[in-house]
Amino acid sequence: MKRREFILNSVWAAGGLALLNACKENQPLSTVSKGEYPMKVLMINGSCNEHGCTYTALNEVAGSLNAEGIETEIVQLGKNAYRDCIGCGACRKNMNSRCIFNDDIINAIIEKAEHSDGFVFGSPVYYAHPSGRLLSVLNRAFYAGGNAFAFKPGAAVVSARRAGTAGSIDVINKYFTINKMPVVSSTYWNMVHGNKPEDVLQDEEGLQTMRNLGKNMAWLLKSMEAAKKNGIALPDNEAGARTNFIR
Ligand SMILES: Cc1cc2nc3c(=O)[nH]c(=O)nc-3n(C[C@H](O)[C@H](O)[C@H](O)COP(=O)(O)O)c2cc1C
Repeated sequence: MKRREFILNSVWAAGGLALLNACKENQPLSTVSKGEYPMKVLMINGSCNEHGCTYTALNEVAGSLNAEGIETEIVQLGKNAYRDCIGCGACRKNMNSRCIFNDDIINAIIEKAEHSDGFVFGSPVYYAHPSGRLLSVLNRAFYAGGNAFAFKPGAAVVSARRAGTAGSIDVINKYFTINKMPVVSSTYWNMVHGNKPEDVLQDEEGLQTMRNLGKNMAWLLKSMEAAKKNGIALPDNEAGARTNFIR
């Protein structure tokens, strides 16, 4: 069986197992899950507006996760400046998966990621891409501490007045898909619309999408936990081949 099929089958099998146990005990799955799965989802708000549109969307996802017994934390990037990765490679040589620049919250985020089970990265859309601050933070957090995120589910959430949402989601999803992370989806692409939180609160479909995203992430986290408890190990990925097309 190919690796991808194996992962998918494992996750589906685990979900089925949890469902089976729930049925055996004659309880709805949500009741079985409560308190039995002490898990945490770390969210990053890439907006400078701590309680703006992106926060409103993330908060809706958090509500769904909390209703499923899963803890959430929203890290606010706020109005601070974040330098981008300078590619010095120190994090991989002698910094033990930490960024050499220790004057902002990147290393704290990596440490939080080590103790988290899933991630939601949110951003306002700026000129049809995610905010530069979110990308600088993710570049450094993933380059230095990618292992802290690997094999844990991730989801992208974006907020825009009008356009650039799909491209922005794609950019955030790239961090997950190069780092062995299952990508969590919803009933629409994970976007809300508005310039102010009050606008977002009127975006009924956007908020519904956020609530369903939380439910889907809770389901995946519980399925993965059930898989782990039933002896399904993480895949043993091959390493070593690293080509640049000319040698
Ligand atoms: C610099 C800048 C660029 C923006 N570019 C876009 C854009 O390309 N498309 C769009 O629909 N909205 C754009 N907006 C509007 C924001 O994406 C929108 O107001 C967002 O919901 C704000 O989220 P926040 O309250 O979490 O910061 C831009 C706003 C700023 C400040």
